[in-house]
Amino acid sequence: MGRTRRLRPGNACSGVTMIGSGRRNWNMLRAYVPGGPWTRVVGPGSTIGGAESGFAHMPLGHRRESLRSLAMELTPNLVPLSRLVGTWAGDGSGGYPTISPFTYHEEITFAFVGKPFLVYTQRTRGADGTPMHMESGYLRHTGDGHLELVLALPTGQVELAEGSLDADADTLTLELDARVWSTSTAKDVSATRRTYRLSGDTLDTVLDMEAVGESMSRHLESRLVRQG
Ligand code: HEM
Repeated sequence: MGRTRRLRPGNACSGVTMIGSGRRNWNMLRAYVPGGPWTRVVGPGSTIGGAESGFAHMPLGHRRESLRSLAMELTPNLVPLSRLVGTWAGDGSGGYPTISPFTYHEEITFAFVGKPFLVYTQRTRGADGTPMHMESGYLRHTGDGHLELVLALPTGQVELAEGSLDADADTLTLELDARVWSTSTAKDVSATRRTYRLSGDTLDTVLDMEAVGESMSRHLESRLVRQG
């Protein structure tokens, strides 16, 4: 394993007009580039060889070349996150002191839309295909390995997360602690702690939360593999 290094400062992030639309799967996001045509999201999941163009089945050398091309298209502050861009899918398991254990299938996309942040979307399904939790937001890398993730949850919570990005030759690790606000009718969640650990084509995720009067405890763990 190489030496772990904290990443260098990058650009600040800004807003963008964008629309997400599902076509054949959940990941086909399109970005509106002001003054330009509707364009496909840039990333291994799209123009540079995603599931549609067979990224997952490319020989390793071609994949590396594809990721290098992607890094050249990303805004400078996102280059350290280039390995994360794309779609990830796999299985997860969940629990909490107050509920019964469960399993789920998860799909996550980190998409580059031509602006200095990544668009994050997550969908989960039960073993029988029934939709479960979903969430979406924006991942900002503001500089010096500092990350910000803003998330909206359909269960009535918003998360404002900040944390760190660490990288070595093999592994990319994102650790994010969030303050959480819940609407008046939602289950009360006050904090979450998320970890995303990327090694090769495997992305491991963990979510702990402080909710419904419980102290910080494990809610979710999943292991996803690159789809594109
Ligand atoms: C992979 C994503 C997720 C899945 C599959 C999932 C699934 C579940 C399931 C099956 C339950 C138990 C039944 C229920 O109360 O609906 C539950 C409860 C709960 N989840 Fe999640 N969840 C996910 C993400 C989250 C996140 C991100 C949060 C918080 C930010 C969260 C907060 C809660 C809370 C507060 C409860 C209720 C606990 C209780 O009533 O004692 N979940 N979740």
